[in-house]
Amino acid sequence: MDLGIRGKLALVTASSGGMGRNIAHALAAEGANVVLFARTAEKLEATAAEIAQRHGVQATAVTGSMLDTADVERLAAQLQSQGGADILVLVTGRPPNPLRETLEETEEARWNEAYQTQLLSAINVVNGVIPAMVEKGWGRIVAITSASAKQPMATHALSTVFRAGVTAYMKGLANEVAAKGVTVNCVAPALIDTSHRTGASAYTVEQAEHRRKLSPSGRMGTQEEFCGVVAFLASRQAGFVTGSTVAVDGGMVASLF
Ligand SMILES: NC(=O)c1ccc[n+]([C@@H]2O[C@H](COP(=O)([O-])OP(=O)(O)OC[C@H]3O[C@@H](n4cnc5c(N)ncnc54)[C@H](OP(=O)(O)O)[C@@H]3O)[C@@H](O)[C@H]2O)c1
Repeated sequence: MDLGIRGKLALVTASSGGMGRNIAHALAAEGANVVLFARTAEKLEATAAEIAQRHGVQATAVTGSMLDTADVERLAAQLQSQGGADILVLVTGRPPNPLRETLEETEEARWNEAYQTQLLSAINVVNGVIPAMVEKGWGRIVAITSASAKQPMATHALSTVFRAGVTAYMKGLANEVAAKGVTVNCVAPALIDTSHRTGASAYTVEQAEHRRKLSPSGRMGTQEEFCGVVAFLASRQAGFVTGSTVAVDGGMVASLF
């Protein structure tokens, strides 16, 4: 299926590595030009070069933090100089490490950090990018949240609370911009393989083993399986899907809807 996004301009945040980088590849493979945004210039520029070379699209690296409003303004200006973003995929950095039980989450600094990295960062970027989409009368916003926003997982309170906040924010936004041709959805992953990560894992060996057993599929999901869903929500065909959260969790969340 041709997703109808050839030549569209897609911003993917937190895209110097991990899911963000893979999502940028998936959109570029569909012919979208991409703008990448993260803090580490060297990694980001290498990713942009790799995407441009592999997919033959324009890939632009903008170095900065989603938490810094001056950086986000610079990002918005770059997008504007390219005609404004058509697609925004909001990936955020990880919540504070190490993971703890809810009763052990007593440090205000960790709550503040989680609020900033998981919720405020996403709102900052939306504020910078959405006016151009509304003006064009076409846009796709996809926020990456977490299955824990629907079915809280042990040791994930910092993520759950603010990703539930992202979900609520996106729902309100979806209602406000639906008549302007802009769709706003969330993708809620769980158990997606992140063996690409080279730093210290957030999970102990026992926690990682426990995670694998959480889904009826009995396995982790691949990055390709995850990115395909994100790309679909960014597509022309997904134009009547808005205000939704799509789970990509191998069936882990046990509810009917
Ligand atoms: N795997 C799953 O099943 C699952 C489930 C639920 C949620 N998630 C969430 O999915 C997200 C991505 O996971 P991942 O494994 O791909 O993470 P990752 O490999 O650690 O990559 C995180 C990316 O975020 C960037 N970043 C961090 N802080 C940033 C900031 N302030 N501004 C801009 N960019 C920033 C990092 O680049 P720089 O350091 O260069 O800035 C990096 O490119 C995380 O939030 C994770 O919690 C994953």
